[in-house]
Amino acid sequence: MRILVTGGAGFIGSAVAGAYLRAGHEVVVVDNLSTGRRDWVPAGAVFYQLDVTDPGLERVFSEHRFDVVNHHAAQVSVTRSVADPVGDARTNILGSLALLGFAVRFGVRRFIFASSCAVYGEADWRPTPESAPPGPLSPYGLAKRVVEDYLRLYGDLTGLEWVALRYANVYGPRAKPHTEAGVVTVFATEILRGRRPTVFGDGLQTRDFVYVDDVVEANLRALDRGAGVFNIGTGRETSVLELFRMLARITGFEAPPAFEPARPGEVRFSSLDPGRAREVLGWSAQVDLADGLLRVVEALRKGGS
Ligand SMILES: NC(=O)c1ccc[n+]([C@@H]2O[C@H](COP(=O)([O-])OP(=O)(O)OC[C@H]3O[C@@H](n4cnc5c(N)ncnc54)[C@H](O)[C@@H]3O)[C@@H](O)[C@H]2O)c1
Repeated sequence: MRILVTGGAGFIGSAVAGAYLRAGHEVVVVDNLSTGRRDWVPAGAVFYQLDVTDPGLERVFSEHRFDVVNHHAAQVSVTRSVADPVGDARTNILGSLALLGFAVRFGVRRFIFASSCAVYGEADWRPTPESAPPGPLSPYGLAKRVVEDYLRLYGDLTGLEWVALRYANVYGPRAKPHTEAGVVTVFATEILRGRRPTVFGDGLQTRDFVYVDDVVEANLRALDRGAGVFNIGTGRETSVLELFRMLARITGFEAPPAFEPARPGEVRFSSLDPGRAREVLGWSAQVDLADGLLRVVEALRKGGS
């Protein structure tokens, strides 16, 4: 297949692009390198340094005639989306909409979208299924939700196949501090420097941490399976304090964490029910947290990625 991966110079997109290439597909990466790195674009992919809102994208679509668009490019900081909702919407809503328009015009068969657990906000029950009502607490979460609605509409109107993968908190060696699972990178980096990481609030807030290789596998399966929205998480909750303890155990760090007041607007508890992904995509997370954290620590010890 000919596949466009937007955001293919970033943490998750570069891993997805690499896996598509290894599976024998032709891959084109579009990324404006705002947080991504040119040297993370896998060898073998055609690369365009382009913003997803750039009209020049039309030429890329007309030249490559994609079968699939895999859309990972985004403004990924929840905090920044609160400070600059217009800028967030420009990339995350208008950029996505532009891509969707080109996908329909140029006969793309399937659109895979990197959505987020942020669409749920503080859910009433956990692990949260896809059927739970959305309640985003940030412009970032709202934009993800809006794009899912556009996908639904365009799918109905034009027959475009679409899949939205709602990721839990994705962690791995290349994850950056500002993203949704940034706490893993921040804690591990601080501990390896011999500094006490800061816990905001009581540390009992929970997250569903899913390893990047598992997320890549979901993107491989979504190439020709499934329709609609899928949670990509483990269904397990780990508190921020427990995460600290696990990292401390792995590294032999003995000091306690530092505490600061809770940050307003943060979701308190979060975990995603992966039942539908298991049933329809045959997907479930394979890397357990202790193993994944060990891989992150080893990568950071070797000097990043
Ligand atoms: N990391 C997580 O825990 C997590 C959780 C849920 C959803 N997601 C989603 O997964 C996707 C990838 O996130 P990531 O964690 O790899 O972050 P990342 O910052 O590493 O990747 C985002 C990539 O998009 C590129 N980009 C940003 N704005 C762009 C624009 N306007 N035009 C073109 N390229 C642009 C960046 O340069 C970067 O390479 C995003 O859509 C994000 O919202 C991530």
